[in-house]
Amino acid sequence: MLFKRKRGWEVAERDITPESTFINRRSLIKGLAAGPLLLASGSLAGCWDEATANSAVQIAAAPPDPTTDLYPVERNPRYKVSRAITDEADSTVYNNFYEFGSHKSISRAAQALSIRPWTVTLDGMVEKPITIGIDDLIRQMPLEERVYRHRCVEAWSMVVPWSGFQLSKLVELAKPLSSAKYLTMQTFMDPDNAPGQKQHWYPWPYVEGLTMEEATNELAFMVTGVYGKPVPRQMGAPLRLAVPWKYGFKSIKSIVRFTFTDKRPVSFWEEIQGTEYGFWANVNPQVAHARWSQATERTLSGGRVPTQLYNGYGEQVAHLYKGMTGERLFT
Ligand code: MTE
Repeated sequence: MLFKRKRGWEVAERDITPESTFINRRSLIKGLAAGPLLLASGSLAGCWDEATANSAVQIAAAPPDPTTDLYPVERNPRYKVSRAITDEADSTVYNNFYEFGSHKSISRAAQALSIRPWTVTLDGMVEKPITIGIDDLIRQMPLEERVYRHRCVEAWSMVVPWSGFQLSKLVELAKPLSSAKYLTMQTFMDPDNAPGQKQHWYPWPYVEGLTMEEATNELAFMVTGVYGKPVPRQMGAPLRLAVPWKYGFKSIKSIVRFTFTDKRPVSFWEEIQGTEYGFWANVNPQVAHARWSQATERTLSGGRVPTQLYNGYGEQVAHLYKGMTGERLFT
């Protein structure tokens, strides 16, 4: 049972069932070992409520982020949105980060994430694998601010002023071989501090992937900051992806590893329920999710707006998918 205070933007849970309530057969069988509590809840994910998250978590004061001096960075005027930027007070307390709970109120629990020391590994089909400290990485990248739309598959959305650098810059640093076709990204693994990772019916660690063409598209952005400050833990510190033409689950948080490969990766949600959360997951208002319409979205600022094809970024990305047949590009 999930006890939640209703906010203005929230629709009834019965209208949109979160992806968390649908776990595939394999995960379910693994999960049965977790005992009767889960079975009684009727939802594998609903067993950890907000009260648990907000009261039981004891968090030591975090040291200041060592990149604070870098922000704010200059806004790139090429990336702007006609809608107003979502209030920081709203977007930083309504998050999906299953490592810290399968509900939206994980912001406090996520403060347990230790973000220093933090290293990032670039490996797989590259000239030479590299492991680099996050501060060395961030300080050598050309930082800028981009205002992007952010559209969750659950049909809520926001407008966010991300700071960071183009993913193509990281690809340049990695020097992938020409045989690399995909980029796989992986989140940290730390069940002691991220108790969601003890829920062993999920296929941890969180993994996502892009084709090399997608990864080097101008829109694919590595986020290191937001609202003119280092990105907070609940939004994926110290390094997360923003691919705004795709549903939000593709924008993996708190990345530790980038692996170049010639095999298409199976991402976290694809492994859990591949018929509903595919590899491509491009936003399309005309292709409904198996259980709800994608025609409109409720904004965290309040109100409902029409959803746009590729979330409004068709000019930059539609060519990537031209002539592709036999692929579920929009689910
Ligand atoms: N990355 C990790 N590691 N774990 C997650 O649970 N949730 C995804 C994505 N990245 C998730 C993740 C989903 S479903 C969405 S909608 C976005 O993060 C939410 O990002 P936000 O909380 O910054 O809005």
